[in-house]
Amino acid sequence: MGNLLTIGVLVSGNGTNLQSIIDRCNDGSLTARIGCVISNNADAFALERARKHGIPTIHLNHREFSGREAYDATLIKVLRDHGVDLVILAGFMRIITPVLIDAFPNAIMNIHPALLPAFPGLHAQRQALEYGVKISGCTVHFVDAGTDTGPIIMQAAVAVDTDDTEESLSARIQLEEHRIFPLAIQLYAAGRLTVEGRRVVVSSPPVAAQKPR
Ligand code: GAR
Repeated sequence: MGNLLTIGVLVSGNGTNLQSIIDRCNDGSLTARIGCVISNNADAFALERARKHGIPTIHLNHREFSGREAYDATLIKVLRDHGVDLVILAGFMRIITPVLIDAFPNAIMNIHPALLPAFPGLHAQRQALEYGVKISGCTVHFVDAGTDTGPIIMQAAVAVDTDDTEESLSARIQLEEHRIFPLAIQLYAAGRLTVEGRRVVVSSPPVAAQKPR
């Protein structure tokens, strides 16, 4: 499987999105392999999930680096050492710098728990509840130098209920995250995504070869 897309997943926490990617790789609906999982947080449960599946894990403690650029330079080295083609931010709660972005042009994807461009940044679900929107959701996008501003690949909507709490809304949004993040990665793996300015164009799947008569 030498030409399978190799992804590197950056995490900080629970890793339920990582789990959905692992599961879709294992059932074959995602034609990619996970080359490594990197966390800034040694206690991230995501690392446990990766180890359980025999995926190499690396802890890079940001406190041991002189700054964000130095941290990102080491991230690049680790990602390259593991043959990573596509970088996945799956609940990675750190701002990345142009050092990393320039090393993987249009090859870093993030998932955000709101319908961007609404509610970027931290506590997106709380922002949505406080604003009073009736519909929120999640967004998979390529990462650019801004905060949650990159070209949008896929979104899913979630209705906000009157009695929703941050927790209940987050839980329903996560169900959609777990569905669309692997789908977006699969589009990339199939070579079907092209970035044209702000827009991500999704090409049609190849037409299956006609059966000879
Ligand atoms: C996800 O809900 C993701 O949308 C969010 O962190 C959670 C990670 O959950 N990301 C952000 O808020 C990025 N700004 P997980 O560790 O269970 O996948």
